[in-house]
Amino acid sequence: MLTIGKVNDANSVFDATIELNFGPGLTSTFHLIYLLDNCTSPQSLHPETKQRLIDVFSTAQEQSGSSFEEADKAIQRIFKGGVDFEVIDGALLCHWSRSHSSKFSQKWLQTHSYSPKLYEKPQLLPAICPWDAAQFLDLTRQHRSYKFNDLPDKLPGLLEDIFTYGFQFIEDVPVSLEATKKVSEMISIIRPTHYDLGVWDFSSDLAKKDTAYTTLRIDMHTDGNYWQETPGLQLFHLLEHSGGNGGETRIVDVEHILKVLKDLAVEDESWQRTYHVLTTQPIAFHQAGEEGICFTQDFFPILSVTGGGQLLKCRWNNSDRSPQFPVLKFSVGHIYEALFRFNALINDPKNYVQFQLTPGKILVFDNWRVLHARNAFTGYRRLCGSYLTRDDFIARLKGFYNDRDSLLNAL
Ligand SMILES: [Fe+2]
Repeated sequence: MLTIGKVNDANSVFDATIELNFGPGLTSTFHLIYLLDNCTSPQSLHPETKQRLIDVFSTAQEQSGSSFEEADKAIQRIFKGGVDFEVIDGALLCHWSRSHSSKFSQKWLQTHSYSPKLYEKPQLLPAICPWDAAQFLDLTRQHRSYKFNDLPDKLPGLLEDIFTYGFQFIEDVPVSLEATKKVSEMISIIRPTHYDLGVWDFSSDLAKKDTAYTTLRIDMHTDGNYWQETPGLQLFHLLEHSGGNGGETRIVDVEHILKVLKDLAVEDESWQRTYHVLTTQPIAFHQAGEEGICFTQDFFPILSVTGGGQLLKCRWNNSDRSPQFPVLKFSVGHIYEALFRFNALINDPKNYVQFQLTPGKILVFDNWRVLHARNAFTGYRRLCGSYLTRDDFIARLKGFYNDRDSLLNAL
């Protein structure tokens, strides 16, 4: 049961705190400025848009200017007459002097308690499941299948699978741009690029100056490394391949590669260095084939990982790699050693899988996680597909995977 403990006015409004007891041994301290800033009442948090209406930085409305000193004084006036606290029906009420009142449920207080932290960040997305070549075969054998006509009903499962495994197939799709667009838009929002403004559609006619528009072999890569914002997902739909052969697709899961790298790094110092090169050494990429356009990006390492070593994003394309090193955090020799090792891992048959795309079967995959490659081919080959935004995919998946209250309570 919620009770109020010690209120400490301190010397500054930034340091004033209140202690709240949630039960035996369960006490939390909140800064008053934090409670004012995060007030959940309708006048402070818009009930429909869920956006903050209160602006603690500009409470000095009656004053001219908005310097720190003026804002600080205005905040002090809110606290000056003393803030009254009470608990009603298990909720904390804060009556700010010369201002409004705020109400916080015990649940809100416990799930936002930072001193001490009383909550675990809720898991709003499914767990990741890395795979190697053997596991890929198991997955595709045992797995849920998705057919074009069933998609509206099976969409939550499809999005969950794409996140969990980094790929999925959709079968029985009409062999058309329209059907490809429809599937794309169910999953996310199509990202326009200089290649195409919607669903792209190409053959080996060099319509754009990129190896994708040739019959050449393309090694393992992610797309768009020369952009700050690489495409979140990619979708492939082979419309036709006639009068020739080849063109098989290969994919490899970088979540698995990262796991292998970490295991090797535990046992060997030089692999430890390789892990650090791959996760911290910025590598530059460019796209300069089109007259009048030149995309470059040189801020990111091949493997962007969180502080805890979780994969955020992979960027790799040997064809688009630029000669200049943005900065040198390691010797050039050690950088090449790491690149050779990474290249060997992503091209190890134990790690990648190869298959032929067929008309009517869409492959969708996570371009931040899964590298793709294409074998050289002969004949006429027409492929269409799309780049999809990652934010919209994640937002839709979270919406399917969680109830509204859980999502809002995790803010
Ligand atoms: Fe590609």
